[in-house]
Amino acid sequence: MSNEPAGRIGTKTASEPFYLPLGNEVAVFEQCHAQQLAVMLKGPTGCGKTRFVEHMAWRLGRPLVTVSCHDDLTASDLIGRFLIRHNGTVWQDGPLTRAVREGAICYLDEVVEARQDTVVVLHSLSDYRRMLPIDKTGEQVPAAAGFQLVISYNPGYQRMLKDLKPSTRQRFVALDLDFPNVDRETEIIERESRTDHAIAHELAILGQRLRQLRDRGLVEVPSTRLLIAAARLIEAGIPARDACRAAVIGPLTDDESLLGAMQDLTDSTFT
Ligand SMILES: Nc1ncnc2c1ncn2[C@@H]1O[C@H](COP(=O)(O)OP(=O)(O)O)[C@@H](O)[C@H]1O
Ligand SMILES: [Mg+2]
Repeated sequence: MSNEPAGRIGTKTASEPFYLPLGNEVAVFEQCHAQQLAVMLKGPTGCGKTRFVEHMAWRLGRPLVTVSCHDDLTASDLIGRFLIRHNGTVWQDGPLTRAVREGAICYLDEVVEARQDTVVVLHSLSDYRRMLPIDKTGEQVPAAAGFQLVISYNPGYQRMLKDLKPSTRQRFVALDLDFPNVDRETEIIERESRTDHAIAHELAILGQRLRQLRDRGLVEVPSTRLLIAAARLIEAGIPARDACRAAVIGPLTDDESLLGAMQDLTDSTFT
């Protein structure tokens, strides 16, 4: 257990984080914020959940506090703890408490990774109470006006092992995010890598083809993030096939037959 508080606290960013909407998620999120409703973002790894939250925090002019969840994350990591100093103990707010006090958007990334007893501390914040009880100090912290809870998770991943309890799920408005279509993904790759349109388009098509291998047992399919990484390598002068092997195919699997199938698809895309 470290004394460093978990989570990154963001200052309001001056420049707009680029986010290309896929549907009506921007409008729905804005209404959730206005109505003080908590939001659950569902979608595969690398489809843009984090970027979407960064964009919405910027749009709404709220600070963003991000916590990456993992299975050691305790309620104290979120809420805070007493620190021992030479002249006694001092209370230090955790990232959730800071967000509650300052009316920030608190984003809990990959929330299913956290233990159930940690997730339970969110309950009183995600219903009409909008209150965070701090057991160790006896304080009840009311959520400041702009406070909003946002959680994300990947429904395809380890679904059988881990899931959110119904009593938790039902406190959130669910927004489904998924990979964009070829045209939108081309635009995203182009914007994020500064590569030319033709390369971006080919990578987007490759992405679509590789994602069809899900039916053949590929558990994690290539995300927009991986396609952007390949585009950056190509832009830096690495031949396209090599870039795809290193940035897209390699990270996804160690299975020889799947690697071979992905290599074939790559070779036929970049002839
Ligand atoms: N709709 C989108 N608009 C802009 N960039 C996107 C979008 N979707 C994905 N990206 C790009 O893909 C990268 C990975 O997305 P990210 O938000 O980190 O995914 P997730 O949080 O879902 O794992 C981002 O850094 C961004 O470059
Ligand atoms: Mg993320």
